[in-house]
Amino acid sequence: MNDDLEQRAAELMGEAAHGYFAGGAGDERVMTRNIEQWQQYRLAPRALVDVSTIDTGVTVLGRRWAHPIGIAPMAYQRHAHDEGEVALARAAAQAGALFTLSSQTTCPPVEVAAAMGDAPRWFQLYVFRDRAVNEDLIAAAREGGHEALVITVDFPVGGRRERDLRTGFAPTHPTLLDRVAAADGVALTLAERHALHDPSLTWDDIGRFAESSGLPVVLKGILRPDDARRAIDAGAAGVVVSNHGGRQLDAVLSTAEALEPIVDAVAGQASVLVDGGIRRGWDVVRALAVGADAALVGRPVLWGLAAGGADGARAEIERLVAEVENTLALIGCPRAADVDRSFLAPARR
Ligand code: GLV
Repeated sequence: MNDDLEQRAAELMGEAAHGYFAGGAGDERVMTRNIEQWQQYRLAPRALVDVSTIDTGVTVLGRRWAHPIGIAPMAYQRHAHDEGEVALARAAAQAGALFTLSSQTTCPPVEVAAAMGDAPRWFQLYVFRDRAVNEDLIAAAREGGHEALVITVDFPVGGRRERDLRTGFAPTHPTLLDRVAAADGVALTLAERHALHDPSLTWDDIGRFAESSGLPVVLKGILRPDDARRAIDAGAAGVVVSNHGGRQLDAVLSTAEALEPIVDAVAGQASVLVDGGIRRGWDVVRALAVGADAALVGRPVLWGLAAGGADGARAEIERLVAEVENTLALIGCPRAADVDRSFLAPARR
């Protein structure tokens, strides 16, 4: 089903843009593993539970979400659809999903904010060598009413994205970063953009961002329990267990494999989210059963955006939410907030 949507999206976007969004690092094995490894978690339904009312609500960073699905940050959305981030943000707001705006947004944050009303939104920050650029991005985050700063920590340097090398994908729509970092505001090439990232970023810098932004910080790209602990010690309010959709290093563990020890290490002291390979609502429920508070979804909604604009993206989010509802009913757990490891088959407890 998703393959057909991706196929339609690919036809509309063209090979290079599709390759950018669809592609991963190296041989793209981690990308595949991200999807496959959710299947190691088999749900063990409870019978004869009253599921006549389903409550999909969860709490993340102290705020109630209508359901446990948020939109992962994704760059260059005008390369997927003319209306770009404005359309995807509108779809997210209408479908009750948190929207994470990328530092590489091709639509101005104020326009994205205007499309969202007061729906929940986070801002994804790459940390660049030039401190002034970081500050301008944080100012944009605050101006857009974003409620948290999602610092991506798995991108000290770019991964080996062979599809992009093959197709020569060259962004033409300038991003927020280009507007603040490139003197003439034209779109930077991928290589130029990667060269701006600060490869010397360390734990010592993290607290500074929380302080200067006045926003809760979420670290995205955590794959180890000891790093999750360090994130809490550094003042992070949450972590996103992520391998960047398999786009950075094609030799890392899948997020389904990384999640359980991280949940245990965090021990409820911060919000834990996960992304990577979530294609179905039952994958979201699997993540909740392992102990995540919510999941972020990327490519499926991007294909919806490319194929059908805001309506297409919204339909994909709604499909996922409907699958979450259906799964909760079928496992005999009417409240998403009550899903726990008791719903996992014994081999995985
Ligand atoms: C940007 O974060 C990318 O993965 O291309």
